[in-house]
Amino acid sequence: MRIDVVTIFPPLLAGAFEHSIIKRARERGIVDIHVHDLRDYTADRHRTVDDYPYGGGAGMVMKPEPWFRAVEALRVAGNPGCAILLTPQGKRLDQGLVQQLAAEDRLILLCGRYEGVDERVREHLVDKEVSVGDYVLSGGEPAAAVLVDAVVRLQPGALGSSESIVEESFAAGLLEYPQYTRPPEFRGWRVPDVLLSGDHGAIDRWRRERQIERTRVRRPDLLADIDDVSETTA
Ligand code: ADE
Repeated sequence: MRIDVVTIFPPLLAGAFEHSIIKRARERGIVDIHVHDLRDYTADRHRTVDDYPYGGGAGMVMKPEPWFRAVEALRVAGNPGCAILLTPQGKRLDQGLVQQLAAEDRLILLCGRYEGVDERVREHLVDKEVSVGDYVLSGGEPAAAVLVDAVVRLQPGALGSSESIVEESFAAGLLEYPQYTRPPEFRGWRVPDVLLSGDHGAIDRWRRERQIERTRVRRPDLLADIDDVSETTA
């Protein structure tokens, strides 16, 4: 999979793709990630990316030309891919949308600044608008980092087997069970006896019950999406 990210702050994203699972996936050739400076696609001496809003009002609006030039230049290189504008007005990212995006050959991510992007970019350039949640970031860069991380994890070969277990549990609609490691007692707080018992059947049952209970308490909306919890977790 190839991912291009277009931003006016490339340094904000530089480190995000150089560690851990994403770094390993890049080294293995599973994903090819490129970060581009939107100002490289401007045509004036000042490398201008924004201008005053027609009709007046506070703040600046990102001009359409650099976005069109950037995305069209990237598309010339081959597969047009799916161009996505990160914005709080977009479709909310969840694991289902992540799975859909992970199946694309190529993503082109446009990081807008929150004050606004000329409407013609939304209407005539991008294929989708995506939000990472109902809150306002200063720009799309942290949202792009979130989207890339979630999508790269799903590429075949990106995860080791122990990492993929967490993925599967969430994809099945349940939160993870509580985890403990040594010591068995810390500041008077003991690890549940069942985990020290060596009885793997009892441990599996305990974990499944904790998953269901935790999901019911913290995220009942997830359980509503599952028809039959006992089947899902059997
Ligand atoms: N840009 C600003 N806020 C955002 C959000 N919540 N999701 C995606 N992009 C954004």
